Amino acid sequence: MGEADEAFVQALGHRPKLSITEDEGIPLIDLSPLSSPNDANTKHIDDLVAEIGNACKTWGFFQVINHGVPLEKRQKVEDAMRKFFAQPLEEKRKVRKDEKKAVGYYDNEHTKNVRDWKEVFDFVADKRILMAASHEPEDKEVPETFNQWPDYPPELRESCEEYAREVEKLAYKLMELIALSLGLPARRFSSFFEDPTRSVRLNHYPPCPGPHLALGVGRHKDPGALTILAQDDVGGLEVKRKSDGEWVRIKPTPGAYIINVGDILQVWSNDVYESVEHRVTVNSEKERFSIPFFFSPPHYTMVRPLDELTNEQNPAKYRAYNLGKFLATRRQSNFKKLDVENIQISHFKVQELANELDGALSINKK
Ligand code: OGA
Ligand code: NI
Repeated sequence: MGEADEAFVQALGHRPKLSITEDEGIPLIDLSPLSSPNDANTKHIDDLVAEIGNACKTWGFFQVINHGVPLEKRQKVEDAMRKFFAQPLEEKRKVRKDEKKAVGYYDNEHTKNVRDWKEVFDFVADKRILMAASHEPEDKEVPETFNQWPDYPPELRESCEEYAREVEKLAYKLMELIALSLGLPARRFSSFFEDPTRSVRLNHYPPCPGPHLALGVGRHKDPGALTILAQDDVGGLEVKRKSDGEWVRIKPTPGAYIINVGDILQVWSNDVYESVEHRVTVNSEKERFSIPFFFSPPHYTMVRPLDELTNEQNPAKYRAYNLGKFLATRRQSNFKKLDVENIQISHFKVQELANELDGALSINKK
């Protein structure tokens, strides 16, 4: 990368490591007990719930196999997205997203204010997209926008729509297992997902001449409830191991999905589960493709710890926040480089509030 590409260069402490630590412990969970639920299987389901609970606690990440999403649906999207991204930039930019159009093609995303070495195509699995217009609390406007489908390849739209419908089924099943793993009724989260937001991103990470300086996606946490990610066989997704803060790589497992806890689940569970930081490294020879599916409640949801998971000894660790406003604040930094850190759920931590008050009081005392 030449000087012109300085925008991609990560600060020293955030650059990829020269040696890769392959994950040894990220759980690989077999969901086959779900496909034949009968009495004889109850034991298996209990084991499955325990495995999922452990994985969410220990890693915030796990992989699933025998998940029920037909491989050929995924294959179709992968084929179509390769064709889309292989086009010249002017073609792709015809469906470019911007401040007004929430979804479409984009090649200038910043994570933590450093540019990512990637291009993306975003869509939602809904007829329309409702997102708060701005982060201003008084601004109640929630304009509708629509998916922007490219002319080429013509099969992209249908393959994406079909794929999202299949992955959504998996998302509902996982939310039930997660509810059980928290000691809640299986359908505890259902009311949040009657009108869900299902956004899907097609990621293309081209070969990068400076893989030791740049990242495909900088370190971040996913703001939704749950992410279901398909990665190809190139590899590059790294997760921050909770036990020691080391970046470890998730080895691609053919046909598997990578599941991770998002910020909303962290807040709902009052920190029993945590949304774990992850990032993507790039390499100089191979391009890489991935497809995350982000599952969230609707924009008007107030996100707060569940009553059942809080009590006097263990009070709510977060103030309630409005999801749409939170995401609108986040979006601001996608289009420009900001000087401050982007908003995070930690800003709603009750302890943070106490610190802010302390700060304010000590200023007053001066
Ligand atoms: C993301 C993400 C990982 C990947 O898009 O939020 O973390 O492997 N992607 O592409
Ligand atoms: Ni992510």
